[in-house]
Amino acid sequence: MPPQRWHPHLWHPTTQVASADPPLRAVRGRGALLELDDGRQLIDAISSWWVTLHGHAEPSIAAAVAAQATELEQVIFANFSHPPAEQLADALSARSGLERLFFSDNGSTAVEVALKIAWQWWRNRGEPRRQLIAFEGAYHGDTMGAMALGARSPFTAPFDELLFEVARAPWPATWWGDEGVEPRERLALERLEQLLETPTAAVILEPLVQGAAGMAMVREGFLREVERRVRAAGALLIADEVLTGFGRTGALFACQRAGLTPDLIALSKGLTGGFLPMGVTLAREALHAGFIGASERTFLHGHSFTANPLGCAAALASLTLLEANPGRYERFEARHRPHLEVLAQHPKLRFPRLIGTIAAIDLVLEKPGYFNPAGRIVQRRALAEGVFLRPLGQVIYLLPPLCLDDTQLEQCYGAISRALEAL
Ligand SMILES: Cc1ncc(COP(=O)(O)O)c(C=O)c1O
Repeated sequence: MPPQRWHPHLWHPTTQVASADPPLRAVRGRGALLELDDGRQLIDAISSWWVTLHGHAEPSIAAAVAAQATELEQVIFANFSHPPAEQLADALSARSGLERLFFSDNGSTAVEVALKIAWQWWRNRGEPRRQLIAFEGAYHGDTMGAMALGARSPFTAPFDELLFEVARAPWPATWWGDEGVEPRERLALERLEQLLETPTAAVILEPLVQGAAGMAMVREGFLREVERRVRAAGALLIADEVLTGFGRTGALFACQRAGLTPDLIALSKGLTGGFLPMGVTLAREALHAGFIGASERTFLHGHSFTANPLGCAAALASLTLLEANPGRYERFEARHRPHLEVLAQHPKLRFPRLIGTIAAIDLVLEKPGYFNPAGRIVQRRALAEGVFLRPLGQVIYLLPPLCLDDTQLEQCYGAISRALEAL
């Protein structure tokens, strides 16, 4: 087995070289498995940062990308349109009910675009609104605007002076057997109402699950109450579905499961089935209409790779595959449930929660937090059993690709359970 090592010319994301293990070296991906250069095979239990939707190297997406690559690989989208972009816009518009699609490159930029559209739309109307509201614990990406919308955390700390102010309402996360959720929801709604007394451009939320916060799940009814208040205040509602989109919560979009009708939706990650980096922001036609007229009204935002045809082809193939078998995402929750019920009995675990393909549970720790080493211990132990996890501090979660079979699912839960012995 070759030793794991740091490459002399690479700089890895969110990684402290002084204390982290050197990276695993992947040479191949097939379905739910990643193969390493030493021949080991690992179950990718977190879909490679939540992007690999169906499975690695999914043949129909690979074929669609290969076919598109020999036709049109890229074209400047300011002056051109192209069939895959148009087909994708038609498809996502029909499914989301939002008529306009703006392309960018990843989840952070999809959020930045939503924010900029919302902000400029009010300006274009001649009634600028200066307040933005987000939720405690939120994560919307690592670029400056997306970071500003997200909660302050060790990730934002070095940049806090640079980040614009955002008003924040509590996020009443809940779990199985939680008896205190109602008063927490009431408190959150009261705070939101107070904040909305100030004219507000937009409220942004991660529908049903705050991912990076540690798979913090809220009830559908709470979100509907949020929307009711946002509408009453005349603010725009932005749904960041970068994680939750494309079946992750058991419905095509989390907004559909929760019964929300946002004005803007940010999508990425599963959009291309995890094949290519791409983000999209869907917007109501009325927002688009607010940008038509004099040149100052223009949305002067664009990325070099806007609407990259390979990404569009991957996204179309991914959507086709997803819709050919919706049972794969609709039934995942029922597949998780019995395993999570057993795991939840473990004395070192608490706060079990589950939605769609996402199951999470917390380690009982004296000092929970992102840097608590317990998560790393669980990660190492599971890795030794061929399961790749990436706990978020004390939160152990599974967010696997849809192709994961029952044996592999059992392996994931078994590896977590046995890893707890090391704590
Ligand atoms: C809800 C949410 N929004 C935005 C982002 C940022 O996406 P990206 O990492 O592609 O920039 C993430 C990434 O985890 C996310 O979970």
